[in-house]
Amino acid sequence: EKGGYPHFMLKEIFEQPACLTNCMRGRINVEHDHVTLSALIDHRSKLLNAKRIIIVACGTSWHAGLIGKQMIETFCRIPVEVEYASEFRYRNPVVGESDVVIAISQSGETADTLAAVELAKSRGAFIYGICNAIGSSIPRATDTGTYIHVGPEIGVASTKAFTGQVTVLTMFALALADAKGTVSHDEYVKTVKELAQIPAMIKDLLKVNDQIADMARTFTYARNFLYLGRGFSYPVALEGALKLKEISYIHAEGYPAAEMKHGPIALIDSDMPVVAIATHNGMYEKVRSNIQEIKARQGRVIAIVTKGDTTISKIADAVIELPDTMDCLEPLVATIPLQLLAYHIAVCKGKDVDQPRNLAKSVTVE
Ligand code: M6R
Repeated sequence: EKGGYPHFMLKEIFEQPACLTNCMRGRINVEHDHVTLSALIDHRSKLLNAKRIIIVACGTSWHAGLIGKQMIETFCRIPVEVEYASEFRYRNPVVGESDVVIAISQSGETADTLAAVELAKSRGAFIYGICNAIGSSIPRATDTGTYIHVGPEIGVASTKAFTGQVTVLTMFALALADAKGTVSHDEYVKTVKELAQIPAMIKDLLKVNDQIADMARTFTYARNFLYLGRGFSYPVALEGALKLKEISYIHAEGYPAAEMKHGPIALIDSDMPVVAIATHNGMYEKVRSNIQEIKARQGRVIAIVTKGDTTISKIADAVIELPDTMDCLEPLVATIPLQLLAYHIAVCKGKDVDQPRNLAKSVTVE
């Protein structure tokens, strides 16, 4: 049932091109110039008139929510807050009838996320679910939603569900922006077309697996890892760090790259590998100077760069190349090597990657 792969996690990482194709099927048309989500057709006025969107989720799903926030704010110009469901539910939050609450959950059974949904519902908010497990508790409690349709995820570390969630959030932002008129037609079509190409890009990118497996061997000694990214890549840094800590038991933290000088730079020495997402976007020069600061303190840098990068490749200790894509779609590709890096480091350390200690696939208790 692992389809020839040694672990479910690796199988699920490699399934992503097919899963994301399934996720977009029937939603992005064959010409790749339009997105239709049935939830948006059925509840058009509710969603179009939302004054604010609050995203509630836990763990990896919360990271997808952070990307969703940037996506929705960029394209739809609606303010979005992203909350840990566990904090939201116990805070007497300000939420009401003019709000749309998006609950993101792979399992659809996470106790805190379900309780956050019930609370928001009792205050009159409209609830939109982004889930994977069909017919699970959260989709049943929502007003509407969009399934990510990536198939069952068995590995405790979430991989294909994360990229599925980000894909749905991207389609949601684009479809809503088109309906609201907050995106130009050209930008809309360009982004939809590019999104439709992402599965093929990931398929090609997965060829880095062997390179990362080799690289992983040289990083198993580390006790701590830092992950840096900016803009759309900041939540990817958080997600990369979570993957590493949950399956390899190496302490890892994700940070927005510019925050490094406000504290974490004190940690940098030759024992501290730093994974820096330094792709060709508006923040490239700034992340490049962060990398120089790390190198000046003997830190070891694994740089995630855009294919063809020559500058950072010269200063980093290891380089992983990504296909060139639009800024807002970068999380979908940048996540892949970070999943593989965590996987291979954990395997090298002899850890049980599919069933890490102390963790359950769905957290149905508080
Ligand atoms: O099923 P959910 O998406 O609600 O689960 C939320 C988290 O428990 C989950 O993402 C957890 O953080 C994963 N093990 C991360 O890989």
